[in-house]
Amino acid sequence: KKILLLNGPNLNRLGKREPGIYGDGTLEDLEKRMAQRGAEIQFEVICFQSNHEGELIDKLHEAEDTGIDGIIFNPGAFTHYSYAIRDAIAGINCPVIEVHISNVYQREEFRHKSVIAPVSKGQIAGLGFLGYELALEAFKREAKGEE
Ligand code: DQA
Repeated sequence: KKILLLNGPNLNRLGKREPGIYGDGTLEDLEKRMAQRGAEIQFEVICFQSNHEGELIDKLHEAEDTGIDGIIFNPGAFTHYSYAIRDAIAGINCPVIEVHISNVYQREEFRHKSVIAPVSKGQIAGLGFLGYELALEAFKREAKGEE
């Protein structure tokens, strides 16, 4: 199985960016860990990060066209207002699990709404990098028919 790990704006700054909220692990740490967890279960994890909305949309389309089986997606602040990303997800068959490192529901009001959640398979928030691993576990169980 092939999984796309997609991270949106400002997540390239993990480790330096508000470590009190996002922890001190870097994006590279996260991507390495996910590739390794994937390999342990014979899943290929393809990693991509962009600060640009259009590039994220292109990747979502490409995921469908290249036969990706599932997408683990942290859309960053686009979560809260990008109808274009929401429409891209709605327009592909590939399932998306939305992940947030922080517990967005404990934070500012504007973070309480996700326009992505209604078109996602599920959402995980507040568990740090573990949330991404749990999303991978969900895809693994789904693949095994254990969902
Ligand atoms: C985030 C939460 C968003 O509100 C924020 O804009 C981010 C990161 C998270 O992982 O907790 O960039 O998606």
